Amino acid sequence: MYALSALLAASVFRAASAQGYGYSSGYGSGYSSGTDMSSLFGLVDSGCGTSGPVSCSNTTAEKNLCCFQAPGGLLLQTQFWDTNPSTGPSNSWTIHGLWPDNCDGTYQENCDSSRDYTDISTLLTNQGASDTLSYMKEFWVDINGQNEQFWEHEWSTHGTCMSTLEPSCLPSGSAKGAEAVAFFQIVVNLFKTLPTYDWLEQAGITPSSSKTYTLSQMTSALKSGYGFTPALDCSSGSVSSISYYYHLKGSLLDGELVPINAPSAGSCKSGSVKYATKTGTPTTSGTPPKTTSKPGSTSTKTSSPSPTITSAPGGDLPSSGTIQAITDDGVVGGLLGAGTWSTQTLGTYTLSGSSSGFTMSSKKGKCGISSGALTCGSGTSAATFTAVDDGDGNLLIAYQGDINWSSDTTPDGSAQETVYTGSGEGTDFNLAIVSS
Ligand SMILES: *[C@@H]1O[C@H](CO)[C@@H](O)[C@H](O)[C@H]1NC(C)=O
Ligand SMILES: *[C@@H]1O[C@H](CO)[C@@H](O)[C@H](O)[C@H]1NC(C)=O
Repeated sequence: MYALSALLAASVFRAASAQGYGYSSGYGSGYSSGTDMSSLFGLVDSGCGTSGPVSCSNTTAEKNLCCFQAPGGLLLQTQFWDTNPSTGPSNSWTIHGLWPDNCDGTYQENCDSSRDYTDISTLLTNQGASDTLSYMKEFWVDINGQNEQFWEHEWSTHGTCMSTLEPSCLPSGSAKGAEAVAFFQIVVNLFKTLPTYDWLEQAGITPSSSKTYTLSQMTSALKSGYGFTPALDCSSGSVSSISYYYHLKGSLLDGELVPINAPSAGSCKSGSVKYATKTGTPTTSGTPPKTTSKPGSTSTKTSSPSPTITSAPGGDLPSSGTIQAITDDGVVGGLLGAGTWSTQTLGTYTLSGSSSGFTMSSKKGKCGISSGALTCGSGTSAATFTAVDDGDGNLLIAYQGDINWSSDTTPDGSAQETVYTGSGEGTDFNLAIVSS
């Protein structure tokens, strides 16, 4: 029997918070710092692009719901902090799910019983997503140990309501259940970009049986990491779950998730909040994990080899340094303060966090990703990067698990090139942190 007190509790919180939805001022600082799903989940081309309206922000009826998430255009990545019983690693929050709420905070559930797949483990393994499955066994765990039922429930209850993951939206020839495989990969990859534990820890907020924190200390720490305010839920005065909110441009398969402020606060009361300790062992893989890999394709061709990226130990991240560009021809210049690539004198960057999640700023301002390009400036919302050791003594900057960056061409003289996430422009390179 499937009885998850935590799941139930979460639905209650959600219903409660739905009452307070007011949309006029909830959008934070706009749509500039999206999470590019094409780099999270790059192997399926939806053909949608990202030039259409953002979900929940259309002014006329959108017809193609493969390319426009509706009616559930408000997406919540929900995480648990389960301490009783303690669930998952002691130093990581765990995945609850990805839920498509309607734009007004009401929601649909169980949208297509014909796609209530069972045996998610076999489905993932058979479609080349065994890396995703191993990650789920550590970070997407049920409080009663019923992982398989928990995953089935998250898929059938919420996943089947994603309009952009309807089977007809996938490339023709996709295997049966490929859209569910995509769902699990997307949720896992998204979770890796939301290291709640690390963001709190960076602000000195760690689990404790004696200390309490204020809700505003916790939300401001999380806002520094995420760029927007998530909703924290409490149970008996102790923080128990969190929801990060997004709108979506294009398809969940390869569109862009646009982070937004939570439309209303969670159930934690302002004032002091407990952050209870977990008894589990700390994760060896961490969040994001030591190894990241490209998700398998959801089409029938699934055997793309997964590059392995090893995280440097947390202590190895210097607090400041310059950033060099390493091309096939060796080191060629590096980043100026604005985040552009040049052979001029390099800018100095301040790095805060650990190699498993940090933000950067230069004299120009915080560094973020805007329209796929690295930019540092006063109006930029900070993105979270990770640092990985390439095994040759270089500490490489990764964005969403990808150490590749590219520009139209290799700069020389006083030229400056825009630096794009991922490979694919004229020149590919890596960015290495050089401690100063
Ligand atoms: C946005 O598109 C959806 C899907 O077609 C539709 O249901 C909704 O009414 C549209 N919103 C507006 C304001 O037209
Ligand atoms: C980065 O580039 C290398 C070399 O081109 C490639 O093998 C690897 O798959 C790329 N990594 C990702 C995450 O795309």
